[in-house]
Amino acid sequence: MSTSRPAPSARSNPTILGVGAALPASLVTNADLVARLDTSDEWIVRRTGIRERRFLEPGQPLVELAREACVAALEDAGHAASEVDQVIVATFTADRLTPGLAPALAARIGATRAGVVDLNAACAGWLYGLDHAAALIESGRARLVLVCAAEALSRVTDHEDRSTAVLFGDGAGAVLVGPGGPGLGIGAVAHGYDDEAADTLYAERDERLLRMDGQAVYRHAVARMTEAAREVLARNGLRIDQIDYFVAHQANARIIGAVADALGVAHEKVSFNVERTANTSAASIPLALAAAQRDGLLPPGALVGMVAFGAGFVWAAAVASWKNVSPTP
Ligand code: ACO
Repeated sequence: MSTSRPAPSARSNPTILGVGAALPASLVTNADLVARLDTSDEWIVRRTGIRERRFLEPGQPLVELAREACVAALEDAGHAASEVDQVIVATFTADRLTPGLAPALAARIGATRAGVVDLNAACAGWLYGLDHAAALIESGRARLVLVCAAEALSRVTDHEDRSTAVLFGDGAGAVLVGPGGPGLGIGAVAHGYDDEAADTLYAERDERLLRMDGQAVYRHAVARMTEAAREVLARNGLRIDQIDYFVAHQANARIIGAVADALGVAHEKVSFNVERTANTSAASIPLALAAAQRDGLLPPGALVGMVAFGAGFVWAAAVASWKNVSPTP
C-alpha cells in the first residue's frame, strides 16, 4: 500500500455522496437481558426507548463491520475504493490498542492509495471525522474521504451491571464525502468540551468498562446538545424550521426527545433509531442516517441537523444538505 497519490489541488464544496451501515448478526432483545439481569422490558423501554441491540460474537473482529459499512457507502455513492484519498475511522473500541482500525479497514476494502487514521472523540467522534473530511475537501488536499465510525460497545460494557448493561450495542456506519454542488454541502461545525466532567462518564485503561453517573450524563447531554444545535444553526445562518431531518446521538430516546423539544423540532422529523441499535457511540449517527435514507426520509437536498455528545465531555453539531451534488446537465 502506498500514499503516493499526488495531492489533489481543486478546492471543492464538500458533501455527503453516499452512506452505508452494518450491524452484527447476533440480536440481543430486552427479553434476553431480562432472562439474566434484574430488569424488565417495561423499565428499559420507558427509561431509554431501547428494544434491542446487536453484539459481535466473541472473537469477531470489528473491522468486518466497518468494511461492510464502507463498501455500502461506496456503492451508494457510485465510487470505487481505489479512488479514496483518506479513510478516517472514529472509534474507541478498535480490535487492537494499536494499530488502529483504519489500516486494516482500508486494506480490506481496497483503498490502496488512501491515508489512514483513527480518531477518538467518544460519541462525538464521527462528527469530528466529518468536519475533518469537509476541511480536507474544501482545502483541495483530498477529493474523496471515507468517514467511518465503528464501535463494539459490548467489549467495554459490564454485562452484570443492570444500570449500564441495557444501554449499549455494536455497529458501524460510514459516509463518503466528496465534491458537491454550490450552496450548503457540509456547513460550519460547532464543537466544545468540558474536562471537569471527565469523571462522569469514562472507562479506565485497566478496568476497560464504561462507568457513568447516569443522571448527570442525562442532564449535560440534553443541555449541551441543545446549545450546540442552536450554535451550529446560528453559524450557518439557518433556522430550526428549515431542518428537514434531525439526528441526535442515539444514546437514549428520552435524551433525544428532550433535545428535540427544547429546539422545537417535531418528533416526526427526528431519528429514534436507538430503539433497534441501542447506544453505539460514534457509530450512532451514520447508522441513523443510513436507516433514514433506506426509509425514504432523506431525499437529495434534505437539510440534516446532527448533534452528538459523549465522554470528555466532548460534543459537536453539524448541518448538511444531503447529497448536495450538481444536477447532471
Ligand atoms: N432495570 C431496572 N431497574 C434499574 C435498571 C434496570 N436496567 N437500572 C437501574 N435501575 C434502578 C436503579 O437501581 C434505581 O433503583 P432505586 O430507585 O431502587 O434506587 C432506579 O432504577 C432508578 O435509577 P436511576 O439511575 O435514577 O434511573 P434514571 O431515571 O436516571 O434512568 C438512565 C437511568 C436510563 C441510565 C438515565 O439516567 C439516562 O438515560 N442517563 C443517560 C446515560 C446515557 O445515555 N449514557 C450513555 C453513555 S453517554 C452518551 O452516549 C451520551
